[in-house]
Amino acid sequence: MDIVSINSIDDSIKEQLVNLLIDGVESKAAIGFVYPLSREKAIEFWDKVNQELKVGTKILLVSKIEGSIVGTIQCSWTNTYSNAKHRCEIQKLIVHTTHRKKGIAKLLLKEIEKYSLSIGKELLILDTRSGDPVTYNLYKSIGYIEVGSIPYFASESNVGEYSGTTIFYKLIGNMSTKN
Ligand SMILES: CC(C)(COP(=O)(O)OP(=O)(O)OC[C@H]1O[C@@H](n2cnc3c(N)ncnc32)[C@H](O)[C@@H]1OP(=O)(O)O)[C@@H](O)C(=O)NCCC(=O)NCCS
Repeated sequence: MDIVSINSIDDSIKEQLVNLLIDGVESKAAIGFVYPLSREKAIEFWDKVNQELKVGTKILLVSKIEGSIVGTIQCSWTNTYSNAKHRCEIQKLIVHTTHRKKGIAKLLLKEIEKYSLSIGKELLILDTRSGDPVTYNLYKSIGYIEVGSIPYFASESNVGEYSGTTIFYKLIGNMSTKN
């Protein structure tokens, strides 16, 4: 398996990322979209990601097996605030349902740490659906620290069901030794 950084999303990559996002939403993951996710909305999402890559406020990694994308992760930040240059948010970690439980997510998280550190991001923040045993185990196993939860954070459906979110952080690089 290869993990590569994507600087620009061409049509072939977009097609695979669209399929991966739709598969993730179909698996009832809390990744920003209520099920079902239309192809148009998924395309719109990756076009927006592509814009952020162009502006330089995001790292996008994908894991590939025999040339096909089976997983992805992002690290995002803003250039607006001069007091936030050291931090970024880990987002949209998705592994295709056909390739889960093979260690791909753990590798993506470890790899994005290296990329984040290489551009001076030493505080990583993320949030995940409260009570999700898969992501809690995953993030805690690689050193993320649970901060707290916010109730009613995300819609689970179009019929008034909500889930809370739980925030985690991890210090890397020099900041990890100062704390
Ligand atoms: C969460 C997700 C990315 C994990 O991907 P994965 O490649 O299957 O995860 P890994 O194989 O790297 O597993 C790493 C760790 O996660 C935990 N984990 C993974 N699957 C698990 C499961 N079914 N039950 C409990 N823990 C699990 C374990 O701690 C595991 O480490 P271990 O194998 O040493 O015990 C994947 O399930 C997914 O894409 N889910 C939908 C999208 C999503 O929820 N993303 C996270 C948004 S915050």
